[in-house]
Amino acid sequence: MASKEYTPLLYFVFVLVLLCISWHTCRDHENVNDDKASLSIAYSWYTKMIEVFTSQYPNASDNTDQVSAKTFSVDSYGAKGDGKADDTKAFKKAWKEACSSKTAAVFSVPKNKKYLVKQIKFKGACKAPITMQVAGTILATPDKSKYKKDQTHWLRVERVDNLLLNGGGVIDGNGDVWWKTSCKVDKSRPCEDAPTALTLHRCKSLTVKNLKIQNAQKMQISFDHCENVQVSKLQVTAPEDSPNTDGIHITHTQNITLSDCTIGTGDDCISIETGSTNVQATGITCGPGHGISIGSLGDHNSEAYVSDITVDGAKLTGTTNGVRIKTWQGGSGKATNINFKNIKMKNVKNPIIIDQQYCDQKKPCKEQSSAVEIKDVTYQSITGTSSNKEAITFDCSKGHPCQGIVLQDIDISREGDGEAKAKCTNAKVTLKGKVKPQCSKNTIQDQPGYAAYI
Ligand SMILES: *[C@@H]1O[C@H](CO)[C@@H](O)[C@H](O)[C@H]1NC(C)=O
Ligand SMILES: *[C@@H]1O[C@H](CO)[C@@H](O)[C@H](O)[C@H]1NC(C)=O
Repeated sequence: MASKEYTPLLYFVFVLVLLCISWHTCRDHENVNDDKASLSIAYSWYTKMIEVFTSQYPNASDNTDQVSAKTFSVDSYGAKGDGKADDTKAFKKAWKEACSSKTAAVFSVPKNKKYLVKQIKFKGACKAPITMQVAGTILATPDKSKYKKDQTHWLRVERVDNLLLNGGGVIDGNGDVWWKTSCKVDKSRPCEDAPTALTLHRCKSLTVKNLKIQNAQKMQISFDHCENVQVSKLQVTAPEDSPNTDGIHITHTQNITLSDCTIGTGDDCISIETGSTNVQATGITCGPGHGISIGSLGDHNSEAYVSDITVDGAKLTGTTNGVRIKTWQGGSGKATNINFKNIKMKNVKNPIIIDQQYCDQKKPCKEQSSAVEIKDVTYQSITGTSSNKEAITFDCSKGHPCQGIVLQDIDISREGDGEAKAKCTNAKVTLKGKVKPQCSKNTIQDQPGYAAYI
């Protein structure tokens, strides 16, 4: 760590020495032009070094902040980190002190160790900006009886503003015991709640990056009622057959960017639910799993609003859905201004799908006339293969048809033999550029710039 902090300094010293040497060689020469030439060589060396430096240490000033921040390691509060002893108390103590530090603090989970913990609430507000540096592994206790008080959370960060959560370590929900007893796996059992591995609740100005989150009991990481969030370089994994292990879940959250995340789970890679606006995702690799999903919205006749969502740059492989919007019958509200672009699909069952008859319960859902409206959804530059015949499905509500749907530069073929098809019901679809496959003509209401495959 320390040596890394000083590398920038070493670069500067090195450059200074170079400058001195070239200056000296210049002075030995009579010729003023030579002098200038070698000076300019030295200068270009210098600028090059600066470039190398800034490309390697784009956040050098962050680093210096961290050097001056006070570190609260869980080890200093009695954590064993052997994967067996219960380290919950040490985590709670270290957090309490770190959070009440008057200067910038680092709550640290050291590298190369595994800390077994029960439920923990990391509560704010903290007195100063805080970093949670998870370099080692945090492992959830597999003892289900320890979750009796609140069966929906394992690690929960609450009302902590200006938080940086990073460190390159692992958050492991140890979910096997929950999956086995899920009603989706063992149909004879009643359905019960299971914990989300990591919840960020009501956090403002939050950065989460460079972490592995795996084997969650239910959802892996959830942002709930947060504002101004940057998420990057997450690796989120769970087995393909683990029930409800959504990768990144976003609900009631404003202004969130996701970039460079790799997600493979038993449920949605990303799920974006009601109350979320201004969500930007880029550089997403997804599979296995159920794909990138907006919803489900409007369950139990609820009102749902999502808007301004862009997924630009994603690769989905072997997922059940590609980009999906799903709403229950009987809901109300709106899903608007949604853009999916630059997306590559490989062997995806339903690459493009809007499902306004979504029903995820044991009893069949009865027909209802109200629905969450879906308006202004653009699909642009989406290519690849579909494992189903229907590469595009718009199954929209009769009472509330999907409006302002744009398909632009779409090229999805069927994996293996056969032709890919589009099935569009109650949708107003506009085509731009080349679009393949296409809805049957009568579902297309207007088509400016129509230049599609026939
Ligand atoms: C540096 O910080 C910026 C903004 O805070 C962030 O977007 C970028 O990913 C960071 N780079 C690294 C290497 O951490
Ligand atoms: C979200 O970002 C927009 C600008 O991009 C800003 O106007 C708005 O205040 C932000 N919302 C919150 C809750 O900070």
